Amino acid sequence: MKRGEFLAVVGPSGSGKSTLLNLLGALDRPTKGKVIIDGIDISRLNDNQLAEIRNRKIGFIFQTFNLIPYMNALENVMVPMIAAEISPRDRRIKAMELLSIMGLSQFFKNRPSELSGGQQQRVAIARALTNNPKIILADEPTGNLDSKSAYDIMEVLRKLNNEGATIILVTHNLNLINYCHRVLFMRDGIIEREEILNVEK
Ligand SMILES: Nc1ncnc2c1ncn2[C@@H]1O[C@H](COP(=O)(O)OP(=O)(O)OP(=O)(O)O)[C@@H](O)[C@H]1O
Ligand SMILES: [Mg+2]
Repeated sequence: MKRGEFLAVVGPSGSGKSTLLNLLGALDRPTKGKVIIDGIDISRLNDNQLAEIRNRKIGFIFQTFNLIPYMNALENVMVPMIAAEISPRDRRIKAMELLSIMGLSQFFKNRPSELSGGQQQRVAIARALTNNPKIILADEPTGNLDSKSAYDIMEVLRKLNNEGATIILVTHNLNLINYCHRVLFMRDGIIEREEILNVEK
């Protein structure tokens, strides 16, 4: 991938899209092959070094939001900053700022169960952005959302991409690939073909 690219990964269920994303995001280790991020072969790093890369470079967004149910929106967004050793005061300031960007200022005290799916996903995106990741990995981020909320999330991703983030989006929704520069089609664990959509974007 090129820096600043917006890539879509599509393919049938079980074709390996999430596996690929988990490898790229240092959540899994490859048994074969290499994953190179910024010139570093991350498959050779130890667990601490991997955690460091995940924390500093990568933001994850999942289909099921993966928010912590007993924490409110603000607390959920602050979680990754604890590991990054940011002071409690700065954590709060940064989390409120991100919630505000996501249009959720007035919901900071709400727990996930008190938010709509689209709002929960925006909390999850705010959480993914806390450490200013250069790479955003989104696995079916709009899969559980109505089309209006899905559109809002895609616009957020587009904005982040315009601001320089590299984005990999796994999706079943072929309408969404219009947002992307390039699409990889996966089947049975391999990339079957790729299509370049719009080099101008
Ligand atoms: N932890 C695991 N251990 C063993 N096999 C796994 C594991 N996770 C996934 N697989 C297998 O790897 C293959 C690819 O799975 P993966 O989850 O990457 O598919 P996917 O393309 O994301 O599918 P979906 O669209 O349903 O999310 C499947 O055959 C799956 O059963
Ligand atoms: Mg998957």
